[in-house]
Amino acid sequence: MIQSPASPRTEDWAAAPHTFILFGATGDLSRRKLLPALYNLYAAGRIPQPWLFVCVARSEATDETYREEARQAIERFGRQGPVDPDTWRAFSAQLHYVAMDAANPDAYTSLASAVQRWERERGLSGNRIFYLAMAPDFFAPVTAHLHASGLAQTEGFRRLIIEKPFGHDLASAEELNIAIRRVFEESEIYRIDHYLGKEMVQNIEVIRFANSLFEPVWNNRSIAAVQITSSETVGVEDRASYYDRAGALRDMVQNHMLQMVMMVAMEPPSRLKTEAIRDEKVKVLRSLRRYTPEEAARHVVRGQYTAGRIQGQRVPGYREEHGVAPDSHTETFVAARLFVDNFRWAGVPFYIRTGKRMAAKATEIVIQFRDMPKHLYFNESGNLGPNLLVIRVNPVEGMYLQLNAKRPGTEGAVVPVAMEFSQEPDQSPEAYERLLDDAMRGDSTFFTRWDEVSLAWKWVDPIAEAFRADNIALHPYSAGSWGPEAAQTLVKEDGAHWWPVYGQDTLSVDDVLEREYGQAQEVR
Ligand code: BG6
Repeated sequence: MIQSPASPRTEDWAAAPHTFILFGATGDLSRRKLLPALYNLYAAGRIPQPWLFVCVARSEATDETYREEARQAIERFGRQGPVDPDTWRAFSAQLHYVAMDAANPDAYTSLASAVQRWERERGLSGNRIFYLAMAPDFFAPVTAHLHASGLAQTEGFRRLIIEKPFGHDLASAEELNIAIRRVFEESEIYRIDHYLGKEMVQNIEVIRFANSLFEPVWNNRSIAAVQITSSETVGVEDRASYYDRAGALRDMVQNHMLQMVMMVAMEPPSRLKTEAIRDEKVKVLRSLRRYTPEEAARHVVRGQYTAGRIQGQRVPGYREEHGVAPDSHTETFVAARLFVDNFRWAGVPFYIRTGKRMAAKATEIVIQFRDMPKHLYFNESGNLGPNLLVIRVNPVEGMYLQLNAKRPGTEGAVVPVAMEFSQEPDQSPEAYERLLDDAMRGDSTFFTRWDEVSLAWKWVDPIAEAFRADNIALHPYSAGSWGPEAAQTLVKEDGAHWWPVYGQDTLSVDDVLEREYGQAQEVR
């Protein structure tokens, strides 16, 4: 059963019948994520009828051959397994394929007339959603062509969904934004950050603002530090032409990592309304301490993977990867110490780290509470631990709270115990399902507003400059490790260490407790 990603927010969003035009329909993102997400939404009854789904790409194909390709991609990459024949027949009957060169303005005239014809046949009134699943160089010209051809000039609503990266730095992001804003209003632009579609990232808001247990202690009086890790085992894959110019700072930190920082650090919004929520997130970026390139050298670490082993398999180093310059200085790992200089967070370090070819794939947020005075209870082995709230975003979805309790059968020995909650695997909709559903309903809460993009670049640009000028050493780290030693040193300077994440051998709460104390002390 496919669960539908119904919105938890109070605004009354309803999706209206529309045409969905997907550019880049044969690309990786479309095959792996968008086609399965749209199919699942359809199967869950979330796509308003009638619906027209127009897939656009350069390669020659007919409706029939493309539908077959789409079915294969959905079955291979979707979470639902083989498609249901009846659902598939109904879904694919709404799909048309148009082969065209998106860079050629003339091609849009026939696209526009085909779209209008199909809309008339289905009784659609011109509501249109354009999804640009293509290289960022296309974003500005395609929007201009959509305008010139009349496709974006419609009586109904029009929405533009665009993928990251939104620019390469502040200047290029501003230029791109100006080009897009010539055609679309800010409220019509849906900038995707797929981390915002992840169940547990959205859950941060609920954990914080729906539990009286947490909100009173969610501040610098009770929290000692926050750690956010997003580690990957994959390398650069076949994306070297993009990645070697971007690096981990632009690929992961400017967007996904900062989004998670915002979700953890934001103030409660005045209402659960889109702009109220986004306003609070933006304030976090305003309070984020900006480093000069010189300061960045004290707070930011970068690394690049060398050959190593991932799950027993030998893998090449970054510079040996296909398409990567043999002397590339692109970082595949970043760790940093951030400060949110406001009343709530003054003095609390936010440590972030992300990298490719690390030992495990995991995204986790650790809220570390302050130590208790240790004179009353102390562990026999002398290591009474702090309370931790760990939010597991990926690959397991859930959270656990690490507490201290009495070790059974002893007089005063303290052991860590875990209260754990995990979501049923495969039950939550994929990030793209949720976000596409939101876009169809006109809910842009979990999309990135322009001021978020620009402020994120303002924070990133001086660090990127320090990387470019080689003010910050590029540390090698072996594939299959947890990144360079310098990332450990960064937190050690503050007397801290990185908490192990899911999949790290010392790590699962149960495993640690079991190994150390014979039996996991767990409260469920
Ligand atoms: C993308 C990055 O935005 O996020 C990729 O471009 C990265 O490099 C991916 O692999 C990670 O996403 P997830 O959902 O697998 O954590």
